[in-house]
Amino acid sequence: MKGHEGWDQYADYYDWENRQTVGRRDIAFWSRVAAPVRGPILELGCGTGRVAIPLARDGARVVGVDRSASMLACGRRRVRRARLQSRVKLICGDIRHLPFPDGTFRLVMAPYGILQSLLDERLLSATLRDVCRVLKRGGLFGLELVADLPAWEEYSNRTTLRAARGPHGTPIRLIESVWQDRRRHITRFEQEFVEGRGTAVTRRMFSLAFRTLSVPQMVNRLEKAGLEVSSLLGDYQGGPWDLRADVWIILARKG
Ligand SMILES: C[S@@+](CC[C@H](N)C(=O)[O-])C[C@H]1O[C@@H](n2cnc3c(N)ncnc32)[C@H](O)[C@@H]1O
Repeated sequence: MKGHEGWDQYADYYDWENRQTVGRRDIAFWSRVAAPVRGPILELGCGTGRVAIPLARDGARVVGVDRSASMLACGRRRVRRARLQSRVKLICGDIRHLPFPDGTFRLVMAPYGILQSLLDERLLSATLRDVCRVLKRGGLFGLELVADLPAWEEYSNRTTLRAARGPHGTPIRLIESVWQDRRRHITRFEQEFVEGRGTAVTRRMFSLAFRTLSVPQMVNRLEKAGLEVSSLLGDYQGGPWDLRADVWIILARKG
């Protein structure tokens, strides 16, 4: 299984589901990080523009890179609807090989666990090397790891979400299974969205996998890539990280 797989099939449901889960709870934080930055900002794994669009509304210029054509198609529709084409550019690409010259950005952001889509050391180190390359000297790299993934309970075929109206206006339920591979630090979700009723039921199945390093392990990988960690944050208000924190944010600079 590869970490970039599953997102094309998820795209139709992503914004609908995330409105009920992560919502906008990290947006004000990333907006504060972006506010002092002059010039374009790079977002790794921009998806449907959940972070890029509100930042652009606040005045930032954001370049988003994502591998999933379907996630990008949703994002581009939202950018057009918000009339933000001059401030948001969404590009199809892999975060391991960033299509930008050296020293392009003063800020690179990796919100909402995008680095956890890199399922082995080789992919993570290639990505961090390239992030370091596209940052200007003194530039900032900000990332969030989704903290609750390694502790997620394992279960099989459980209905974890149900609503009278899903993204297509019909009843919907999400049937989910979760596996933990403790040795490889990988959490795998198998999801099936079931929409409609009676004979008009449609089903969409896909899997997503994530690899979670601890904060100290990620700090070590950032330093190996040539970045200097400046802050470890344990909430979206800027409070310090500790082992009990349920938010894991790391800010690092290119020295
Ligand atoms: C959790 S979503 C985050 C989307 C968005 N940043 C947000 O906060 O809502 C992860 C996104 O990363 C993308 N992705 C995963 N692996 C990738 C890779 N190797 N290169 C580019 N994009 C990738 C997926 O296609 C998906 O859109």
